[in-house]
Amino acid sequence: MAKRVVLAYSGGLDTSVAVRWMREEWGVEVVACAVDVGQLREGEEDTIRERAVAAGAVEVEVIDAREEYARDFLVPALQANALYEGKYPLVSALSRPVIVEHLVASARRHGADAVGHGCTGKGNDQVRFEVSTRVLAPDLEVLAPVRNWGLSRADCVELAAKWDIPIGATKEKLYSIDENMWGRAIECGVLENPWSSPPQEPYSITKHPKDAPSEPTDVVVQFDAGVPVALDGERVGLVECIDRLTTTVGGYGFGRLDMVENRRVGIKSREVYECPASLALILAHQDLEGITLERDVMREKQRIEIRVSELIYDGMWHAPLMQALRAFVDSTQQHVTGEVRLRLDPGRCYAVGRRAPRGLYDHDLATYDAEDAFRHQDSEGFVRLWGLSAETWSRRQGPGAR
Ligand code: ARG
Repeated sequence: MAKRVVLAYSGGLDTSVAVRWMREEWGVEVVACAVDVGQLREGEEDTIRERAVAAGAVEVEVIDAREEYARDFLVPALQANALYEGKYPLVSALSRPVIVEHLVASARRHGADAVGHGCTGKGNDQVRFEVSTRVLAPDLEVLAPVRNWGLSRADCVELAAKWDIPIGATKEKLYSIDENMWGRAIECGVLENPWSSPPQEPYSITKHPKDAPSEPTDVVVQFDAGVPVALDGERVGLVECIDRLTTTVGGYGFGRLDMVENRRVGIKSREVYECPASLALILAHQDLEGITLERDVMREKQRIEIRVSELIYDGMWHAPLMQALRAFVDSTQQHVTGEVRLRLDPGRCYAVGRRAPRGLYDHDLATYDAEDAFRHQDSEGFVRLWGLSAETWSRRQGPGAR
């Protein structure tokens, strides 16, 4: 059994109780490691530190991983237009591998022989934590107290009180929420009935469209080689770009998703998300690719995007296929440079303009004006040969044979 574990610490009820529980039941020293991927609010760091200490952690670390998360995880996902099952921008799935990288580094710093997480046995997050740990540090054990302890929420609240862990949790918990810069994931409670429409209360970064400004507005997103670099002509860093879009786009009531998705462990689950910035950025990026990527490259890329999304969802961020597919995606981004104008209307966000210095849109070819550059006479032979096989079939075996 491990002697010292670095636990992915959220500051919530489960991971707080887990700190003390692991010490009591398994006799391990716990280093609490909170990795900020955009979920921490002003002043929350202090609360997290106090709680972890009260719960008995021998050491607490709070790591600001926002820049790195945006640059090394969100950008590659954006470049792959990564949407699981065509919809979900992989909010939680993308954060786990960066958290694991920090847990492993922290384990090395603190001479730990294990890392730990607070996931249950029914979800995807355990898969992501454990597969990434196995790949990055096969010598480390993975401890999953919540999967082992068989405690109800009420039991946890009682234990927290008994152990004097200051936590404002109640025995009733309406939702399970996970959030970071890329969006928010909301599960449980009334949402478990896939027919019940989601109530307003768990939403926090998107308005209801009826509360959005009634006048539409435009936002111009500029990309340089597939990386967002400016908003409305003003250069912004990635974190700021995402934060600003969360506010504006979410403020227009765009970015809510309601879906039933297939978890890696075989369960279908009803999930509600709010992802204004990620969905808006993917929309803009996809649109810019429409004007900058050569046709066949774009079509092949669309196939690969599906696979990339599945790999991210399934905890395979650090697996070799992911690296290979990322290399392909990367090779397509060189000329994805230009601007997309997004229009925000209550509850909607869509592209209404795009321009790219090295775009492939050729007005002289595309125009229906008489003085175009397209060689009309080439089309006659081309179309005849294009249809030749089907025509031959028709004459011998199909409608033309009768
Ligand atoms: N279903 C999403 C995923 O697997 C979100 C999971 C979020 N976790 C949570 N504790 N609410 O990526």
